[in-house]
Amino acid sequence: MNIHQTLKWASEQLAQSCERPQFEAELLLAYHLKKDRTYLHAFDTKEVEKLEAFKLLVQRRANHEPYEYIVGEASFYDIELKVEAGVLIPRPETEILIDLVAKIIEKEKLTQIAEIGVGSGAISIVLARKFPNLSITATDICDTPLKVAKANAQKYKVDTRVKIIKSNILDEVQDDLELVVSNPPYIANDFKLEKNVKEYEPKEALFGGRIGDELLKQIVLDVKAKGVKYLACEMGYDQKEPMTQFFNEIGVKYYKFYEDLAGFDRGFVVTFYKD
Ligand SMILES: C[S@@+](CC[C@H](N)C(=O)[O-])C[C@H]1O[C@@H](n2cnc3c(N)ncnc32)[C@H](O)[C@@H]1O
Repeated sequence: MNIHQTLKWASEQLAQSCERPQFEAELLLAYHLKKDRTYLHAFDTKEVEKLEAFKLLVQRRANHEPYEYIVGEASFYDIELKVEAGVLIPRPETEILIDLVAKIIEKEKLTQIAEIGVGSGAISIVLARKFPNLSITATDICDTPLKVAKANAQKYKVDTRVKIIKSNILDEVQDDLELVVSNPPYIANDFKLEKNVKEYEPKEALFGGRIGDELLKQIVLDVKAKGVKYLACEMGYDQKEPMTQFFNEIGVKYYKFYEDLAGFDRGFVVTFYKD
């Protein structure tokens, strides 16, 4: 089959599972041929080599496997991160959290922060690239994210300033921290997720407990107990009310929620009283 015929076949295969089957077919074929998409249109009568291997990629995508796991890479902010099964694919809304934290780091001239739940390294690596004087300790409880985040930190040459350690929340972190950032698992255990997320992305990165906000609340308590001034977290669209109630219960100096681009509540910054 030539490129034109192959694309037609692939977009038919992807019609049920993808919103933009033609586009995804082109992305997958470009990846398979190690060319960019413009090549496919310029040389559409060329025969496709290793067609069977390409068909396997299409089959995986038709079965709802996320594109990023198939190609092993995800675009995030201004970088390309290595990802694999077991590591959450970084989401565009997390870029808002980064911009918010970046403003605090800049204003307060912070140099020592931590991230809870490093995943692919998305948040810590972007922040380390933005601020050459910043040191970050990033934790995760799962081995695959720890391995992948280390590889990504090396790829972007920030591995001397992004220390990645295995730890529940901040249990193993002894540094004197000025700010903590986290995009923790915050979805309720029984929430019905789409197939591409539920069947492929790691449960440890998604589910925060029976209600969903259990880990978020524990993070707030642990960061407060460590005497850190700032905490910035991503959260679920329906968690503003319970988190407001929680902040009022435990007593914090200040809190402010932010929304994502679709106008949903998406996270907060909280500051604690220093003793
Ligand atoms: C939603 S993902 C976020 C990954 C990455 N920071 C991002 O924004 O793309 C949450 C991460 O937290 C990790 N995690 C879950 N429970 C944790 C805990 N108790 N302590 C530290 N990390 C945890 C998961 O393994 C996962 O990598």
